[in-house]
Amino acid sequence: MDIKSGCSVEQGLSNEKVIVIDFGGQYNQLVARRVRECNVYCEIYSYRTDIEQIKAMKPKGIILTGGPNSCYEENAPACTKELFELGIPVLGLCYGAQLMMLVLGGNVEKAPVREYGKTQVHVDPSSPLFAGVEQETVCWMSHFDYISRIAPGFFTVAHTDNCPVAAAQCPDKKLYAIQFHPEVLHTVEGTKMLYNFVRGVCSCGGTWRMDSFVEESVRQIREKVGDGKVLLALSGGVDSSVAAGLLSRAIGRQLTCVFVDHGLLRKNEGDEVEAVFGPDGDFDLNFIRVNAQERYYGKLAGVTEPETKRKIIGEEFIRVFEEEAKKIGAVDFLAQGTIYPDVVESGLGGESAVIKSHHNVGGLPDYVDFKEIIEPLRDLFKDEVRKAGLELGLPEQLVFRQPFPGPGLGIRIIGEVTAEKVHIVQDADAIYREEVDKAAVSYAKEHGAAAPWRPDQYFAALTNMRSVGVMGDERTYDYAVALRAVKTVDFMTAECAEIPFAVLQTVMNRIINEVRGVNRVLFDISSKPPGTIEFE
Ligand code: XMP
Repeated sequence: MDIKSGCSVEQGLSNEKVIVIDFGGQYNQLVARRVRECNVYCEIYSYRTDIEQIKAMKPKGIILTGGPNSCYEENAPACTKELFELGIPVLGLCYGAQLMMLVLGGNVEKAPVREYGKTQVHVDPSSPLFAGVEQETVCWMSHFDYISRIAPGFFTVAHTDNCPVAAAQCPDKKLYAIQFHPEVLHTVEGTKMLYNFVRGVCSCGGTWRMDSFVEESVRQIREKVGDGKVLLALSGGVDSSVAAGLLSRAIGRQLTCVFVDHGLLRKNEGDEVEAVFGPDGDFDLNFIRVNAQERYYGKLAGVTEPETKRKIIGEEFIRVFEEEAKKIGAVDFLAQGTIYPDVVESGLGGESAVIKSHHNVGGLPDYVDFKEIIEPLRDLFKDEVRKAGLELGLPEQLVFRQPFPGPGLGIRIIGEVTAEKVHIVQDADAIYREEVDKAAVSYAKEHGAAAPWRPDQYFAALTNMRSVGVMGDERTYDYAVALRAVKTVDFMTAECAEIPFAVLQTVMNRIINEVRGVNRVLFDISSKPPGTIEFE
């Protein structure tokens, strides 16, 4: 099997690229996303990237991110002076700004006053960075070092009460340094500043758009695939669905999608996926639905240990997919719905990578006979994947679907999984989602803004607890359903979303009345940590 690295559709798509050099800052992906919001294509690279490689990429601009170190310390992440002599505009942010100053002959030292949080900044609106920005503007500061002397050729274009150099520039060389973080939304006019840099200073025309992405990807997929056959494991999640839509538009029936219904999907989800991608749907492709419910329930019978359950579900997926793939025979390409954060977080992009490996990137399946891997969404952030999905005509409810774990309801049923329990949790979850969605829509209509409590992920789980209750005149001994609702940015930490009590009451009443086998409804208020979002 000849496995090449994923097919990226970027090459050739956008001849104007800005690169973000990552010094380990927590906002590195955010910088790239903001740049892309300016319709400029942007990629993240580690500060260790060789200068020759950077030159070969011919970026129209370079942005140096923040980072946790002090740039004057020995072995601190650094860059060569040559980076600033390429004639390419460079914007340094926080650590990147300090490094630029230090490398070019300025000075950086520990600040007498540490600045953290929203800070009033006085800017010089004649600077190209601050065109159209209010002279007094709120910016997000987070630094303990400061630029105590700017490098020769630079002059200061912003300051705060505690920070003499909040921004400096050397317009002749197109070098700009900003102490604060324009990429975070707390910096009220940050997007404008980044826009000024990439569209103004770097002269990018703004050609990165989802309609052109789709068009260009289709062209490149056709070129790469030729008359070959492509196989895609379709889960019904956003990424694999958008990948299916894109591949279908490019190569039609040369694409086969295998959708494994493991019986652990949400209520009606299997049929919804089939309605979109199956023979009666709008997409031209070969769709194979494998109804493996019984097989999964059989394997899971009597198993209660969470990790063992996860392992069984994962392994069984491989077995089922393998069997289907064998029926299809050798294919030329195996497609995957890998997206850009997966790439960055797996260490193939920026600096923060070493944090976690991602199943989509590192582990290529070796159980299917294919020649190459194809990853048409490899360059996109999640919000861009969604835009591409809409562009391709996927239904909104699929495109804006909340995250759903691979092992599905298997990890939302505590203890043994049975068909009966699956039905209970499916029905309770459907009611809960319906009522929360309804309440969120009516709040938005009434207030003209999204409800502040609107959760980022919310679902029902089935506890393994049965307790005594009374219904009518009868004693019951039934299950307790737990409702979870969290607000989160990155799913690494989360807070309980404060769903209005009236909504919870409606949900409770409906679940108790409509779902047999449940006599208690609990609302989980744990944050993460210590609780995880899922129950197992
Ligand atoms: P936890 O439970 O770890 O969940 O707080 C964080 C986020 O990850 C999702 N999740 C998974 N997604 N396979 C997935 O594709 C999994 O095994 C898995 N486990 C958790 C979870 O839904 C939440 O969004």
